[in-house]
Amino acid sequence: MAHTESALPLKNLQGKVAIVTGGAGGIGEATARLFADHGVRAVVIADVQDKNGQIVAKSIGTERCSYVHCDVSDEKQVMAMVEFTVEKYGQLDIMFSNAGIPSKSDQTILDFNFSQFDTLFGINVRGTAACVKHAARAMVDKGVKGTIVCTASVVATNCKGGTNLTDYVMSKHAILGLVRTASQQLGVHGIRVNCVSPSAIATGMAARTGLTSEGVQMVFGPFTPLKGIALTVNHIADAVLFLASNNSAFVTGHDLVVDGGLISLPHLMITEN
Ligand SMILES: NC(=O)c1ccc[n+]([C@@H]2O[C@H](COP(=O)([O-])OP(=O)(O)OC[C@H]3O[C@@H](n4cnc5c(N)ncnc54)[C@H](O)[C@@H]3O)[C@@H](O)[C@H]2O)c1
Repeated sequence: MAHTESALPLKNLQGKVAIVTGGAGGIGEATARLFADHGVRAVVIADVQDKNGQIVAKSIGTERCSYVHCDVSDEKQVMAMVEFTVEKYGQLDIMFSNAGIPSKSDQTILDFNFSQFDTLFGINVRGTAACVKHAARAMVDKGVKGTIVCTASVVATNCKGGTNLTDYVMSKHAILGLVRTASQQLGVHGIRVNCVSPSAIATGMAARTGLTSEGVQMVFGPFTPLKGIALTVNHIADAVLFLASNNSAFVTGHDLVVDGGLISLPHLMITEN
């Protein structure tokens, strides 16, 4: 269904080829749909949830949407996913590196579990770096002045939003470092690299940690200065669309926080998930 509330004119991405990782649900699915509404020539959804990914691809339309199984923590699979896109659609203009997982459990540094840390960093950090690397290589190879958008989080700026989610908070700080360094390095090729930082939304990820939409509102509502509106995946998709399109033509190395003013509060004492 078209996300008609988007403030940007439709056909913003006409002719572009995009990849969305973590596109089988949540923020990624909403963004893939918005990209399609805005005229992408093709959008490739990459995820490990094959059934959901195929359903989303089919509903967008198989003539311009493909689903690819890709575990982003495996660089070879990321490389194959980018190669598939370039072979099938000719080039890559937009990479939305969004796949991620939450902390398996709260853990302070006193009881830090390195096995959980390795798994989470493999997906959230290594996976994002692999997507940025191979997307950028494909863009440079074809001379495409593309755009790369990653998903960080409000906890990358104000970690009081996830005090005991040590590995997750660390991973989202790493995304800021990746975006800042990669944007410096790729500017010479005309490639822009930015990230979005959502506040909490009850997506599949949040639901797996037991958080419902009502729960998110109860926990975050009182701490969010902007009233009368609840954050949805469509708000994040709008921010990604802005960063992916020419409407942000001179923006690179930027972290676009979408949080209703949450992180500007000086004494934030809540838990994200
Ligand atoms: N929901 C929130 O409150 C929130 C807040 C801030 C940031 N984020 C970030 O937003 C991004 C999207 O999360 P979401 O909220 O839409 O959750 P989600 O669980 O709905 O979506 C995440 C997607 O990533 C996929 N995925 C997980 N591991 C993968 C892997 N190894 N390879 C490929 N795909 C994989 C999942 O299958 C899922 O489809 C994540 O990076 C998350 O950290 C979410």
